[in-house]
Amino acid sequence: EKGGYDYFMLKEIAEQPKAVADTLLGRIGADGRLRLDEVRIPDAVLREADKIVIIACGTAFHAGLIAKYAIEHWTRIPCEVELASEFRYRDPILGQRTLVIAISQSGETMDTLMALRHAREQGAKVLAVCNTNGSTIPRESDAVLYTHAGPEVAVASTKAFLTQLVACYLLALYLGQVRGTKWGDEIHAVVRELARIADEVERVLETMEPVRALARSLAGKNTVLFLGRHVGYPVALEGALKLKELAYMHAEGFAAGELKHGPIALIEEDLPVVVVVPSPRGRSVLHDKIVSNIQEIRARGARTIVIAEEGDEAVAPYADHLIRIPATPTLLQPLVSTVPLQVFACELATARGNEVDQPRNLAKSVTVE
Ligand code: F6R
Repeated sequence: EKGGYDYFMLKEIAEQPKAVADTLLGRIGADGRLRLDEVRIPDAVLREADKIVIIACGTAFHAGLIAKYAIEHWTRIPCEVELASEFRYRDPILGQRTLVIAISQSGETMDTLMALRHAREQGAKVLAVCNTNGSTIPRESDAVLYTHAGPEVAVASTKAFLTQLVACYLLALYLGQVRGTKWGDEIHAVVRELARIADEVERVLETMEPVRALARSLAGKNTVLFLGRHVGYPVALEGALKLKELAYMHAEGFAAGELKHGPIALIEEDLPVVVVVPSPRGRSVLHDKIVSNIQEIRARGARTIVIAEEGDEAVAPYADHLIRIPATPTLLQPLVSTVPLQVFACELATARGNEVDQPRNLAKSVTVE
């Protein structure tokens, strides 16, 4: 059942191109327009929504953080992302025009379920993004957009995460389409790129051997830091979460711009720091700033592990290890930049002799609050 792989996690990492393609299937028309009729929320409700609130836990929360960048940029609807476990305890402001998006692989996470019940009690409409047909979260929501990752068995979420991103991009684009906001060249380019993205994920998977070797060489370390900006920031958080749960290492993700506000004090000789570099095209000012950050930490002794687009030469002189990913539109980069971090964590866990599919103290679906 592991299809020749040692662990379900390895199998599920390898299945990501198919999971992404399956989640896109039938949802983009030949004319490049989104087809999400299955989301049975009337267009009028989507047009009138004045706020979006995303609730989720763990890896699904990181997908939500990335979705916020896409939703606000493509639709101009204000979007908040909140840990489901915190949501209902702070008396959130919700109304008839609030659209709540609950993201969950299992559809059974109690924190997310309680948050969505609270949202509906306050009159908000809830749309679930879920991987498990007929599970509790979609059943209790007003509508559902299913991810088609197939069953995810390993406790650490991988393919479900990528498909959550795809579903959120589709939803954001659909909202833009329905509301007539920003439906221009940029959107068409993104839709075209989405149609090719499964192949790009496949290309990343084919180049992972150096990442595995690097991971093995770091098995004796205690700490790894992760830095990113813009959508690379949640990717850094996700890279750190994977490393904590699988390798049981101290791992933290930071927004690179925050370094100087404290975390840079952590940098010491030979500390591995993974940096997710934004595209030098698009929002190039962010790229230049992160190149300075890499220089700053390297000058203080950090061992820099840099994930950067093919053709980005500016980072090369400051990278002790350079991991290349295909060029994508800025907002879609997490679909390719997360993959090396999954492979990295999985290999480090193996090198440390940990049980990859069943990390200690964790359960696949967390059905208690
Ligand atoms: C991390 C992981 C967890 C889940 C979280 C939410 O790899 O698997 O952080 O993402 O427990 O689970 P779902 O998506 O089932 O609600």
